[in-house]
Amino acid sequence: MKPLQLAVLASGRGSNLQAIMEAIEKGQVKAEIRVVISDKRDALALEKAEKQGIPANYVNPREYSGKEAFEEAILKLVREFSCECIVLAGFMRILSPFFVREAGIPILNIHPSLLPSFQGLHAQRQAIDYGVRYSGCTVHFVDEGVDTGPIIMQAVVPVYPDDDEDTLAQRILVEEHRIYPQVIELLGQGRIKREGRKVILLEEGEGIE
Ligand code: GRF
Repeated sequence: MKPLQLAVLASGRGSNLQAIMEAIEKGQVKAEIRVVISDKRDALALEKAEKQGIPANYVNPREYSGKEAFEEAILKLVREFSCECIVLAGFMRILSPFFVREAGIPILNIHPSLLPSFQGLHAQRQAIDYGVRYSGCTVHFVDEGVDTGPIIMQAVVPVYPDDDEDTLAQRILVEEHRIYPQVIELLGQGRIKREGRKVILLEEGEGIE
């Protein structure tokens, strides 16, 4: 089985990117990050990619006439590098339905809450303000909505009374770094089956290659 060819889109520090790179390095995930793309010139994620010798591309949204042209530029890179899956790892722009339709390959996202609770920005703060006892993270397929796509995997963490946004984010991040690589590995093995909104994780050997 050939490694799953990935494009990673990131706007920030890239700790999920790092976790995926490390899992690949350790042989836990059979994938290859072909390209990292960012909408922020100074994203740490770009630096992290470069350090590993992975092509790192800054796509400046202001250089394009509109959202669709900007998204076309990203898709062009994804195609040039023959990617089979787009991994959103802290990409801070909402992708349009156009992008999702045109991509034609699975798009994964990780969100720092137990979806469908606390969609959108500041999910950890929303969880604290709401007073939930547990939160966590969700890896899901991206559909045409925001944080609404079919859920692939979730991990739960407790929320403590003295938590602030940062302490909770940190606790959730540990789980993000654990489950995102796992999902990518399952996808590569053909063990993720979509049935409408439901996602079925197949046992080893049950996968379709
Ligand atoms: C993570 O909390 C992720 O859940 C959210 O954006 C953050 C990205 O962090 N989508 P990093 O850039 O991977 O460190």
